[in-house]
Amino acid sequence: QDRVVLSESCPMYMIHRGVIFPTNSHDEESLDYAENRFQVWDEDIFNVTYPKSGTTWMQQILTLIHSNGDPTLSRSVPSWERVPWIEQRTAHGYLETRPSPRLITSHLPVQFFPKSLFHSKAKVIYTARNPKDTFVSLYHFYNMSGFLEDPGATQDFLNKFLSGEAVIYGSWFDHLRGWLGVKDKVNLLFITYEELLQDPRGSVIKVCNFIGKKLDDKAIDSVVENSSFKSMKENQMTNYSLVPDSIMNQKKSPFMRKGICGDWKNYFTVAESEHFDVVYHEKMRNLDISFTWDKN
Ligand code: A3P
Repeated sequence: QDRVVLSESCPMYMIHRGVIFPTNSHDEESLDYAENRFQVWDEDIFNVTYPKSGTTWMQQILTLIHSNGDPTLSRSVPSWERVPWIEQRTAHGYLETRPSPRLITSHLPVQFFPKSLFHSKAKVIYTARNPKDTFVSLYHFYNMSGFLEDPGATQDFLNKFLSGEAVIYGSWFDHLRGWLGVKDKVNLLFITYEELLQDPRGSVIKVCNFIGKKLDDKAIDSVVENSSFKSMKENQMTNYSLVPDSIMNQKKSPFMRKGICGDWKNYFTVAESEHFDVVYHEKMRNLDISFTWDKN
């Protein structure tokens, strides 16, 4: 099963049932806690993403909705403390003490998710992004992160991404297919980065409706304004500037990098894009859904 071969000289990663996780924030204990011991409450709201798909953005949107549009919390507490990751070492002991409704983030593929989710009424918001843009964002993230290997040439990293075997959290395709596969078993809202960008207000209202929160127009305006790219790029609680350079070197690439759709066009050659499309159609076959990014 563990087809990925990591050299012993690569302590940055661990392999958990075939999927790579960075060891700076995960270990077998934290993954076991998330999957087997964490108790999901009916009121829990999960922000689930494949990395670089809008995780921080949804953390901000959820915080602001939860605060009825009041930006105080979103400007004074780091995003990762407000909407913490369930699979990271810091979760155990912290999540149990959070007031309900808990806002929780996860990059976990569905097979590693807390088992108790499937016996709960908890809500899951799954945000997906055009995989080509996800790839470009992930490439830059590997470049600036001290806890990830140097991604090397884009072509090499693209092959790793498409094979899904040698990137953190595994295959983008498996992640998406896995979560879409449980959409009738859990309370799940599927939303895309592209939708958030194209219609921020409509998206915020969609999220409000899903989590059963009624906000007035002024509060919705505040959620939209305080979760804009510009606002989040300037906000120390969302732009990761609190993290030391040794962990995230923003001189190499800012965490809030571009925040746009279609940046892949600046990076892919025609041949790479065509190859990507072939792999995409193969891996996504029999999925009877059209995605926002399928059109371009
Ligand atoms: P880019 O690298 O393409 O700019 P994650 O939070 O999942 O790690 O995703 C990070 C990506 O989301 C980055 O993409 C970042 O710029 C983008 N992002 C974060 N907040 C955003 C916002 N409010 N609007 C648009 N993009 C945002």
